[in-house]
Amino acid sequence: MSWVFTAEKRFYLHDGETLLDGMIRTEHKDVRFMCRQGYCGACKMQVKTYTGRLTCKKTPLAELDDDEVLACCCLPEGVLTVAYRHG
Ligand code: FES
Repeated sequence: MSWVFTAEKRFYLHDGETLLDGMIRTEHKDVRFMCRQGYCGACKMQVKTYTGRLTCKKTPLAELDDDEVLACCCLPEGVLTVAYRHG
């Protein structure tokens, strides 16, 4: 289990739940996604801080900066703070 902090909420992720699935489950209003497969980039999030490992369920195909993850692929451990990349 890990904890996630966004501008909208604090919530925990179940084992094996992606960041995107957790944001949808907790009814984030500004969450964006399309493919859920790691190639469109719509779910891109900026990582502010994290205490554990950030592993990927799939290899991201969308282009990412060093401080970005794809929420649909991201399986964080520990405590993660993220921000939306879209306006
Ligand atoms: S929803 Fe398309 S890359 Fe995550």
